[in-house]
Amino acid sequence: MKRPLAERDITTAKHPPRVISFSSGKGGVGKTNIVVNLAIAMADLGQRVMVLDADLGLANIDVILGLTPKYTIDNVFSGYVTLKDVLIEGPSGILILPAGSGVTELLNLGEGEKLFLLDEIEGLGNDIDIMLIDNAAGISENVMYFNLAAQQRVVVATPEPTSITDAYALIKVMVNKYKVNTFSLLINMARDESDALKVFRQLTLVTDRFL
Ligand SMILES: Nc1ncnc2c1ncn2[C@@H]1O[C@H](COP(=O)(O)OP(=O)(O)OP(=O)(O)O)[C@@H](O)[C@H]1O
Ligand SMILES: [Mg+2]
Repeated sequence: MKRPLAERDITTAKHPPRVISFSSGKGGVGKTNIVVNLAIAMADLGQRVMVLDADLGLANIDVILGLTPKYTIDNVFSGYVTLKDVLIEGPSGILILPAGSGVTELLNLGEGEKLFLLDEIEGLGNDIDIMLIDNAAGISENVMYFNLAAQQRVVVATPEPTSITDAYALIKVMVNKYKVNTFSLLINMARDESDALKVFRQLTLVTDRFL
């Protein structure tokens, strides 16, 4: 019998990979580029890295890497292939689970489909050390789900005010609705360290006060 969603996460595999999820609220802040570069850097350090393109309806990772996947995650849901068939290899041997593009059914996966995807990912778990999840922008159920399944949640923001308010909105939903209260903050496109620290202080000022 399948365990209920709340009791499961992809860290329950026998030799669980470390799972780090990247999300942002606002789009275009650099999540996909950060995930791809980090994955390659980690692989160059000897880690076996897998990247899940969790921007399920609007795949980007394969595009950024100039790869043309034969299958995508939506083919797994149609039942024709397994996740292993979908995996493709990128630079430095990173493994990529490419998302479909223009597949609206993937935008809001049902509970059964999410469980199915987790089962399939668990099946891959023994072969990888680190799994990086590149989420879609926004605060959809899918984003919340992948954030919950991860051990570490990185919220990406830029010094732009709208990016900061959207990062706050994302954190607020995770705290209030899902009782998750540990986040790492990554400030991209900052001029320098003090610029990044300013964003960090702005954000923590409101999270500390209201959440
Ligand atoms: N540190 C950076 N300096 C300059 N340009 C950057 C930096 N990080 C990302 N970019 C550029 O910003 C744009 C958006 O990046 P990217 O697609 O990685 O963002 P994203 O958060 O994944 O977007 P989406 O929310 O649409 O998935 C790209 O053109 C990328 O090249
Ligand atoms: Mg992206």
